[in-house]
Amino acid sequence: MRLYLKLLKFVKPYTLILFLAILTMGISTLFDGVSLGMLVPLADNILTGKKIILSRRLPLFLENLIHTLNNTPSLTLLKLTGIIIVILFTLKGLTSFLQGYLMNLLSQKVIRDIRNLLYEKIQSLSLDFYVRSKTGSLVSRITYDVSWVQIALSEALADLVFYSFQLFLFTFIIFFIHPKLALLSFILLPLIGLPAVRIGKLLRKISKRAQEKMAEINTVLFESITGARIVKAFSMEEYETQRFKRYNQDFYALMLNAIKKNLALGPITEFFGACAGVFVLYLGGKEVIKGTISFGIFVLFLGSLLSLLKPFKRLSKVYTINQQALPAIGRIFEILETQPSVREVSHPYILKSFEKEIIFENISFSYENKFVLKDINLRIKKGEKVAIVGPTGVGKTTLVNLIPRFYDPTEGRILIDGVDIKEMSIKSLRSHIGMVTQETILFNDTVRTNIAYGKPDASFEEIVSAAKVANAHDFIMRLPEGYNTLIGEHGAKLSGGERQRLAIARAVLKNPSILILDEATSQLDSASEKIVQEALERLMENRTVLIIAHRLSTIKGVDKIVVLQNGRIIEMGTHEELMERGMVYKEMYEMQKLTS
Ligand SMILES: Nc1ncnc2c1ncn2[C@@H]1O[C@H](COP(=O)(O)OP(=O)(O)OP(=O)(O)O)[C@@H](O)[C@H]1O
Ligand SMILES: [Mg+2]
Repeated sequence: MRLYLKLLKFVKPYTLILFLAILTMGISTLFDGVSLGMLVPLADNILTGKKIILSRRLPLFLENLIHTLNNTPSLTLLKLTGIIIVILFTLKGLTSFLQGYLMNLLSQKVIRDIRNLLYEKIQSLSLDFYVRSKTGSLVSRITYDVSWVQIALSEALADLVFYSFQLFLFTFIIFFIHPKLALLSFILLPLIGLPAVRIGKLLRKISKRAQEKMAEINTVLFESITGARIVKAFSMEEYETQRFKRYNQDFYALMLNAIKKNLALGPITEFFGACAGVFVLYLGGKEVIKGTISFGIFVLFLGSLLSLLKPFKRLSKVYTINQQALPAIGRIFEILETQPSVREVSHPYILKSFEKEIIFENISFSYENKFVLKDINLRIKKGEKVAIVGPTGVGKTTLVNLIPRFYDPTEGRILIDGVDIKEMSIKSLRSHIGMVTQETILFNDTVRTNIAYGKPDASFEEIVSAAKVANAHDFIMRLPEGYNTLIGEHGAKLSGGERQRLAIARAVLKNPSILILDEATSQLDSASEKIVQEALERLMENRTVLIIAHRLSTIKGVDKIVVLQNGRIIEMGTHEELMERGMVYKEMYEMQKLTS
């Protein structure tokens, strides 16, 4: 129920459409009632030539109507009935088209909005959210789960309203004609609903498991498609195929199970319905034989009762759809209500330019419960080049990720020009920071767009000159369509060094005052490393730089080297100072000199 109220918020902008849909449903239901009423003169006056008899008093206009009908010649009545039936069916067709169209219009609009909102939300969440969630499961929320919302609105909600109207109308008719018989029929009706409730519960469980399987399937797909090279290199095609087949088979079995239950529901309900119908037929027939009501009126009673079966069936289906849609809707709201862990204060400080220094003040950091950094105190003056070194897994990447606020420190503060970065607008903070990392993230687009990512209004001249600084211009010109070449997903059509240089060009174009280089050359061979190194040197000119590098020879010239061990800073100084000190850094340096 709570979930539905939340869902209603999305429907609210389209209240008018909903209102019109409900109106057409009401009209359509009235047409149904009138069509059924046409059976009375047809059965009594026209076909059997008898008068209409009803065992109760009617409002005056109906009494008059029946009186007129009873006194009209059969043939005239027959012609009239024919004409009215054609008109009724035309109007009924029109309203039923309209009601279907309006409800689908509504549901399509709502799911479009929900998809957009979900995507926007996912974009706004912090990195830890991405680390925690599986890509496939996220994708299946935007596709599979959202489609359940559509079903819930265009089928369940529509049926709920429309068939409630029908239920109301036909119930009214049968109670009007013969209250005692109607009551009796109604005692039998709940029998028909019972199996639906039972099956609905089962379906809810199945649906939950089906979604989990779908998420698993999506995850396998993503991993094996994006990791195709590794799959092939390790000849794991067979393994991946088996893994996929297993999940696919499970999904198939679940779906089939759900379908079986759904299909069985109809016949079961109908069987109970028919039993009840026969019983009523017997009792009502006796009344006609006695002459308390006419045959035509009994036909109307029976017709109305039969017309009640469909609403009952559809309303029980609404229930089963709900059982399946509710978990999906719940998962959608789970994402929509996730708060980004890195949040902006309400009146953030706008960092216009970086002027003086970055200070790490007693910084500690832990992922969930695992401490990575402890008591880090570090000052980086504007224009300084600072290298961070230490064994793998010590927390170097984590340390630099704190500056653009990919994560917030567990303890301590980071100050830029004296202002805590938590007080700053995230956008303004990040606008001063450029990053070139070990993994270059490129998009399936042209070289030009990839370089201009983050600065879409850059002119072509700016892009070319950035590429030149990054030593990328020459190789780009050799590509089949130069700057307009599509580079494939994640830049698959480029070499590692080329990708790296595009990433550097991107950073050059952004022209940040603070630059973070995280193992920017570690994947390259020495020939391309030289070209990339050269590009990096140019990029580093006149900027404040934090460099993470394994190869210590590449950072000898920096202003300050910070050595991390066990999450703490254990040494800090220039290359010469640290060599002179003769402790950890010197040891690391000499080890590397030996092995290279
Ligand atoms: N998102 C995460 N969730 C939990 N633990 C993490 C996460 N990212 C990193 N870690 C852990 O934190 C520690 C520090 O990781 P980090 O990536 O900062 O190391 P690093 O010094 O950059 O290593 P490398 O030199 O190999 O790049 C590691 O032990 C790692 O397992
Ligand atoms: Mg790292």
